Amino acid sequence: MNAAITATARYLPEGVLTNKDLERMLDTNDEWIRTRTGISERRILRDPAKATAFMGGKVAKQLLEKRGLRADELELIIVATMTPDMLFPSTACLVQDIIGAKNAWAFDINAACSGFMYALNTASKFIEAGTHKNVMVIGGDKMSSIIDYTDRSTAILFGDGAGGVILEAAGSEGYGVLDARMYSDGTGGKDHLLMKGGGSLNPATHETVDQHLHYIHQDGRMVFKSAVTSMADVAAEIMERNNLTSDDISWLVPHQANQRIISATAERMGIDDSKVISNVARYGNTTAGTIPICLSELDDRGDLMRGSNLVLVSFGAGYTWGGIYVKWQ
Ligand SMILES: CC(C)(COP(=O)(O)OP(=O)(O)OC[C@H]1O[C@@H](n2cnc3c(N)ncnc32)[C@H](O)[C@@H]1OP(=O)(O)O)[C@@H](O)C(=O)NCCC(=O)NCCS
Repeated sequence: MNAAITATARYLPEGVLTNKDLERMLDTNDEWIRTRTGISERRILRDPAKATAFMGGKVAKQLLEKRGLRADELELIIVATMTPDMLFPSTACLVQDIIGAKNAWAFDINAACSGFMYALNTASKFIEAGTHKNVMVIGGDKMSSIIDYTDRSTAILFGDGAGGVILEAAGSEGYGVLDARMYSDGTGGKDHLLMKGGGSLNPATHETVDQHLHYIHQDGRMVFKSAVTSMADVAAEIMERNNLTSDDISWLVPHQANQRIISATAERMGIDDSKVISNVARYGNTTAGTIPICLSELDDRGDLMRGSNLVLVSFGAGYTWGGIYVKWQ
């Protein structure tokens, strides 16, 4: 039996960082940011005592409530993040503790901006295998914790946020997560999109802090080119493999990195803008949060009907990318 999404939820912190705010901090301007990225503002979790697990916990509580599940009925929690609260324990274990899911096991997945896609694909296997009745999948990042707000090439792009879903066996055949294609290319990512400090290669020292190694480093132009090609290719591949024409697709749910990358993917698929969810203007790039946040917004708007065909696509550091086809049950 395929895995179906039976609940969606999201959490965006209240703090807002607008392009105008960034104008006061950096040599940039609202027009440049909107034209090059489509972003107008992003959310920031300003409380230093709260991080990714806090946002994941908010999502997890809503998911249980929406689905009418008790915390002790949950069997597995997977959290996709590249900004875990700590290197260990996993953020998934912290979320488990927040909601008191004492019978669940829990682990993290790190595939950067493709984290939620990798986690959704992994989670669906536990349902398909019949070994688990339910899995909670959360994607979220406190990007503001690894952004250098003196670097205009990255500070404008990212925001904080989290989203998630519950997966259970689909009620009938032919619904749920029907196909997934995942890719990694380790040659592409290590020079162009990375955080050098804080891992076992460059543990924190005064020098690594002085050298700003604990922040995101990115060659935006290189990443842009790879993202456009990879997301468009995998979207086209998902369509071909499942005999989907652009008319068959109800929603393209793309990773929200940059409006130009989103539009290029939609164009390659021949999909009208009206069938593409985009909230990058309001939230920027929340990394593992973007796709579940989009799903939750579509769901709350009542835009997901039984039989709706969704194509989810992502691209991120690694490089990692992938596409998933879901028929809403
Ligand atoms: C970062 C990104 C918006 C930059 O846009 P771009 O069109 O590639 O711009 P470039 O980097 O070529 O820079 C063009 C010019 O704008 C300048 N510039 C860069 N950032 C700027 C900013 N925030 N404000 C104003 N000017 C800026 C550059 O210095 C450059 O000036 P120059 O021509 O005098 O050298 C774009 O490359 C991008 O979105 N890349 C993908 C990033 C991404 O999504 N990463 C997450 C992975 S999923």
